[in-house]
Amino acid sequence: MLKEDILKELAHNRARSLSGQALADTFGVSRNAVWKAVKALEGEGIEIEAGTNKGYRLAPQVLTRFDVDVPADIKVFFYESIDSTNTQAKRLLAAGEQGKILLVANEQTAGRGRCGRSFYSPKQTGLYFSYVFHPGASVSDTVWITTAAAVAVMRAIERLTPLKPAVKWVNDIYIGEKKVCGILTEAVSDFESGTVESVVIGIGINVNTADFPEEISERAASLNDSALTRAALLNAVLKELLIICAQKDNEEVLKEYKAHSLVLGKQISFTRGGETYEATAVDIDEQGGLVVRTAQGEQTLNSGEISVFF
Ligand code: BTN
Repeated sequence: MLKEDILKELAHNRARSLSGQALADTFGVSRNAVWKAVKALEGEGIEIEAGTNKGYRLAPQVLTRFDVDVPADIKVFFYESIDSTNTQAKRLLAAGEQGKILLVANEQTAGRGRCGRSFYSPKQTGLYFSYVFHPGASVSDTVWITTAAAVAVMRAIERLTPLKPAVKWVNDIYIGEKKVCGILTEAVSDFESGTVESVVIGIGINVNTADFPEEISERAASLNDSALTRAALLNAVLKELLIICAQKDNEEVLKEYKAHSLVLGKQISFTRGGETYEATAVDIDEQGGLVVRTAQGEQTLNSGEISVFF
């Protein structure tokens, strides 16, 4: 279909404008047919910059399925709008989808965060994606996956921007005192064999979101780096994630995670059984658990929320 062909061509040539004539020649159609296809894409909400004598190019903030650059053994699903890529991933798994899959959305209408919270996912300004793989390991071996995903996101941000990301245990990425990314890892387990059949790593990054709902506006922010596109960031995170997921040894990843930790050495508070405790965060163990020192002694937190006193 011409429209799809043009979208693909524009996505693969983001750095320059392509003239109507060049596109017409490439696909053996008239300039008018190209113009109509461009209008149809715009009608679908895909912003295309077109200047007189300048030709066409995708607006930098546009993300298309053709921007996703992953190895061929990963099946990609791209949605202009979906409730939640994690929820959709689980639907696909339940319907028998196998192998590694990646779900990317331009917008989520019911993005999910940890602890039953929602994740604000407006169109065009954030990255919302879920990577599904099948580790074939015991449940405890996969606990570090969230840790690994946090490291992948921070590496990508550091490679592409001058920003200095940090991680608030267990999975929130911060720039300064504001959260820019959340990670929701969900395991689909076979309880008989005790193995994790599939892991869904859901990553949400505020890339250029300007306005947040009032209830999170104090805590949330975007990367806001003018030179950064969602497409480049998505591919950089995926590249790092695939490298880390393929590694057997997680020592280096844990070291990196600790070096970027916002909580180590800090006073924190956490809630257990309805009681709130104050503690000092002293270490992160090999499984990604947070070792804390309270008046009662040391203990390791494996899940749940903590508050940090900045
Ligand atoms: C959190 O902040 O508690 C985690 C947020 C995780 C958001 C991502 S966006 C892609 C994927 N789909 C979802 O519904 N959630 C995750």
